[in-house]
Amino acid sequence: ACLPTIAPSMLKCDYGNLQAEIEQLTRDGAQVLHWDVMDGHFVPNLSYGALLLKSLRNKTDLFYDAHLMISDPDRYLDDYLDAGCDAITFHIEAVPEPTALLKRIKDAGVLAGLSFNPQTPVSAIEPFFGETDLVLLMSVEPGFGGQSFIESSVEKMQQLRTAAGLDVILSIDGGIGPDTLSGPARSGADLYVAGSSVFGEEDYGVAIREMETLARDQGP
Ligand code: DX5
Ligand code: ZN
Repeated sequence: ACLPTIAPSMLKCDYGNLQAEIEQLTRDGAQVLHWDVMDGHFVPNLSYGALLLKSLRNKTDLFYDAHLMISDPDRYLDDYLDAGCDAITFHIEAVPEPTALLKRIKDAGVLAGLSFNPQTPVSAIEPFFGETDLVLLMSVEPGFGGQSFIESSVEKMQQLRTAAGLDVILSIDGGIGPDTLSGPARSGADLYVAGSSVFGEEDYGVAIREMETLARDQGP
């Protein structure tokens, strides 16, 4: 577990001014960049790949939290390691036997993350907690920003924290904003991925600080 932290999701950002957006986020107190990599196959949307992450790597010191919504992540792992990711998270639905890939990520000195979709139960990932540094609980169907928070995610986060214990960083992703983060915070979430609730606001810093304060006040 760690101090509740907002991870702005780089999906609904202004791609025409990406470096400026990251500089603005940094000035506004962001510490983590959540990169939503989509391949148009595992999810019905295409965003960007390792080249984009790499091109911005030497322009920011922020923590690179890569969320790979792609098929066959093992095939592309070296690209994300080369891009300088600090955490690399892939989906159990894409890799039913994730142990070897989790190990490869950890052996590279990068946090190994496992994500699971709303329909996938905690029991599906429970056998792999020993090899996992971070678990990303999807509170929307992956593929798009701006979707509504799935309420049952609160109970699921509670189940996940009980099963995973305190040594695993728990992150929640999708529809997170001031009105939805209290439940996950009471259930012990550490990272709060926020796309629309940051980039939809005039002042990113106000949004980040408001949500971080809320999450830290609600903590167990
Ligand atoms: C969805 C992505 C999320 C999404 C979050 O597939 O994994 O990170 O971009 O965006 P909001 O916060 O708008 O739901
Ligand atoms: Zn994401």
